[in-house]
Amino acid sequence: MTQQNMITVIVDGKEVQVPAGTSAIDAVFQAGRDVPYFCSQQYLSPIGACRMCLVEAGTPRKNPDGSWILDDEGNKKIFYFPKPMASCTLGASDGMVIKSQTDSVKKAQAGMMEFTLINHPLDCPTCDKGGACELQDRAFEYGYGVSRFQFDRRHAEKHYELSEFVILDQERCIHCKRCVRYFEEIPNQEVLDFIERGGHTFIDTLEGGLPSNFSGNITDICPVGALLDNVARFRGRNWEYEHTSTTCTACPVGCSITVDSRNGRLERIVGRDNPEVNEQWLCDAGRFGHPYVDEDRLTQPLVKVNGEFQPATWEQAIAAIKTGLQGVPAQSIGFYTKADITLEEGIALESFVKQIGTPNVDHAPRYGVVVNAPAATLTDVATADAVVVIGADLTEEAPVVDLRIQEMLKGGILPQQYDFGTAIADLRLTERMHRHRERLAVFYPTRTRMHDVAGIAAEMNSVQVLEHLSSVVSGQYAGGAIEEAASLLKNAKKPVIVLGSDVLKGGQIGLDIAAHIALSVNAKVLPIPADANGFGLSRLEIVPQNGADLSSMGTLKAALVSRVTKIPEDFAGFLVVHETQLTEVARRANVVLPALTNYEKRGTTVNLEGRLLKLDPAAISSGESADLITALGAVAEALDLKAPIRGQRSAQKALKDRFGVDVANLPEQGLIADLGRQYNARTSRFHRPEVGMWKEVMLRSKRLKEKLGGETHASVAD
Ligand code: SF4
Ligand code: SF4
Ligand code: FES
Repeated sequence: MTQQNMITVIVDGKEVQVPAGTSAIDAVFQAGRDVPYFCSQQYLSPIGACRMCLVEAGTPRKNPDGSWILDDEGNKKIFYFPKPMASCTLGASDGMVIKSQTDSVKKAQAGMMEFTLINHPLDCPTCDKGGACELQDRAFEYGYGVSRFQFDRRHAEKHYELSEFVILDQERCIHCKRCVRYFEEIPNQEVLDFIERGGHTFIDTLEGGLPSNFSGNITDICPVGALLDNVARFRGRNWEYEHTSTTCTACPVGCSITVDSRNGRLERIVGRDNPEVNEQWLCDAGRFGHPYVDEDRLTQPLVKVNGEFQPATWEQAIAAIKTGLQGVPAQSIGFYTKADITLEEGIALESFVKQIGTPNVDHAPRYGVVVNAPAATLTDVATADAVVVIGADLTEEAPVVDLRIQEMLKGGILPQQYDFGTAIADLRLTERMHRHRERLAVFYPTRTRMHDVAGIAAEMNSVQVLEHLSSVVSGQYAGGAIEEAASLLKNAKKPVIVLGSDVLKGGQIGLDIAAHIALSVNAKVLPIPADANGFGLSRLEIVPQNGADLSSMGTLKAALVSRVTKIPEDFAGFLVVHETQLTEVARRANVVLPALTNYEKRGTTVNLEGRLLKLDPAAISSGESADLITALGAVAEALDLKAPIRGQRSAQKALKDRFGVDVANLPEQGLIADLGRQYNARTSRFHRPEVGMWKEVMLRSKRLKEKLGGETHASVAD
């Protein structure tokens, strides 16, 4: 908590210091007391809709001469409001006295609870919110236990599908307006609203359906079982889940998530508050794209005999690898892995290829590029006064960056942090805040979601944009959107340039021009790597050392490929595939080793800001599946070698020696560290970023493919 402009508030007799502008509800929480609430939400404007957060409050007053009005005992006299006040919309002031536990407060809160429950269907024993309902908990804690309203409850449509991913039960809605404010204030998509008035009010969307991308967050914030995750629904009760705090690696943002597993299956993913990364929001791909984890998993090694796979033990697999690699020189073996492996796996791979002396190693997809300009964080993006996006379809490549830009458009107000966490009711946020569209410029070859919210936007090839922008900042005239974007950058105090796939896949020249532009206008740069840990892996020497990259592995005699989705048709050598499912690539293998998904790994990933974030393993059963360190150990054994790194501990020690960071003890919000130089090499030709992350993530699950109606669904069409 900052120490500027502090005021003193007395909560239930306890003095507490809070920054001026704090709401009364946050002052109460800062004092370690509790107030029930439904409509307030950390990142949404406070509106005072539910009236549950009632407290008694009063302030001292001054005489006309500026002296304090005193009571009979000579103390400052407190003038109380005549009725309990909603603490979420009440600003705390210096000397304010708040009472959160008096009889009148308790009576008022219990009365409000009685009102809130008038029409509630009381589905509690069977409600699919699964025991995670704020209303149920608060009713138990603060309610009367009986109702004086004996008439028939209002009935509305039950279990109405708002989209493939979100289900609405209108009867359960308590009109807190969190979902309405969320759509309006966070992704800037006005789709839900209250329809009718008074006792007839219900929540719905007029057009029908919800836009994909960011709809799932309403299932986290709805305080009752009205809006539910249609992918996780009926798969477990809250108390049955094992909750694991970890990081999403479906894209390079690295959102903080909680993975809920039950009976060895991954059943639900919910957002976790990390004010520096995703605040508490997730994109729909990160939230809903998980069912593949439990579908057709490989649980033991497979060895191909006479063209058919046979289940095998790890020992049998190692023996088969030994036979397959007989007589193959190390220089003719390649190692290729998906660019979302952990840093620990990465350093194990790097040290192993060095040990056996093969130059053929790569992580894919990869951009082999370096931007020589100051790096921006996500907080820099959210608090910038100008953002220019070049060559990125952000909603696809790094969705939560889109949300942080929306935050920038609202004035970049970062929520105040207190000892108890993020402010519950930030009074600086108001409904329908003005959006500074003029602060955003977007350039991409085709129209993206960001084009619609930007003041300056054009559908343009990124090379053209960079060249023109560079000449304008150097004093030439280009006219149109480019000229406007250049003045935006030049006139800004904290500009940020976001560079996406359309720039990065083009190689170093474009990046040098981008760096020139950034340095000329004092802008920070946020390049978006091609995969979750592309940033970290490019700091390890996992690039071809004058050897074959993934696209040219056809020249090799043998290869280990870990979770790569495509390899060259002309590869005819001995193939070991480390995979989670029997994919197209795995079918071509001689030996398949079962792999862990990132939800099952312990380790470290590095997001697009260069922030080291922790992965912790959720309790998911995947038989004998193992991480890449173990798979490399198997290959080492087959080669009669002892791999230099054989476990987490030795990998973490090697990372500490290499980067000077103790990755075993990272703070909860992650840590931005200098990981040194980026290793460069020609980029693999396999990466086609235009395919789109949303489609890639969603359609790898059979269950979701069915839900979305195969590949023909509009939101995932080619
Ligand atoms: S659906 Fe949920 S979040 Fe939306 S207004 Fe109703 S109770 Fe609140
Ligand atoms: S933005 Fe990226 S990291 Fe965050 S939830 Fe979506 S896919 Fe996962
Ligand atoms: S009125 Fe709803 S939280 Fe204050």
